[in-house]
Amino acid sequence: MLPVQPVGVFDSGVGGLTVAREITRQLPAETIVYYGDTAHVPYGSRSVDELIHFADTIVGFLIARGTKAIVDACNTTSAVALPYLQKKYAVPIVGVINPGVAAALQATRNGRIGVIATEATIASDAHRQALLAREPGVQVFPRACPSFVPLVEEGKVSGPRVEAAVAEALAPILQAGIDTLILGCTHYPFLAPVIQEVAGPGVTLIDPAAATVGELKNVLARGCGLRGPHGSRAHDFYVSGDPRSFSEVGAKLVGWPELAGTRKLELDFKDYLDEAGLG
Ligand code: DGL
Repeated sequence: MLPVQPVGVFDSGVGGLTVAREITRQLPAETIVYYGDTAHVPYGSRSVDELIHFADTIVGFLIARGTKAIVDACNTTSAVALPYLQKKYAVPIVGVINPGVAAALQATRNGRIGVIATEATIASDAHRQALLAREPGVQVFPRACPSFVPLVEEGKVSGPRVEAAVAEALAPILQAGIDTLILGCTHYPFLAPVIQEVAGPGVTLIDPAAATVGELKNVLARGCGLRGPHGSRAHDFYVSGDPRSFSEVGAKLVGWPELAGTRKLELDFKDYLDEAGLG
């Protein structure tokens, strides 16, 4: 493994771009290979077996593509697949759950922490367990928000529809008196202005991207090293679905012209629905 090799980043869609964007901020010399599994988005309604299979297939591709480290930029697969992936592969793989949890524990003053995430992530109980393992005294208020990911994938991050969806989703956890809210899905930071407006100034939003990239930096520093500032650097973007909608929505969200070069690449995904006779 050499410092010049790229960093792999994956998610079900555009959500992982919130982490990729943070990599470009904290580690501007690094090159990114991004895979968005847009043919299977949303991940939040899928089974644990499917999620492990999707993540495993994508990580296999990113390793074949020569990445020196991988960020699982999806809370849903970080919640259910990360231990399996870390055991199977020698390449370091960083998830988003623990960095988000650590940041939330630093931020909270009243020990009442909300977690918004996909249905599968909330069902896994990963955030609550990680919070309580580090700080048994905190109270955790989880809430699944299945309406958010489809909105972000459409590029809708403001306006009345988004405001109504966010207000409806947040009502029960705001009533619980939280002072800190983990954005436990990498799509959600794109909704942060609306979420902050609805939650009010007394609630600190935690986007796990910053702490995740901090961990990536440590992993690289301890391992094969950070890339030097020299040489040409070009990120690569792949999706399993329609590259045009990904590049258009992605460019709107993060403003990167290079997303126009997004390529469609279907990996060797098993068709779970067919196999289970449900298709
Ligand atoms: N962005 C992902 C996450 O962090 C997945 C969202 C989805 O596809 O449901 O959970």
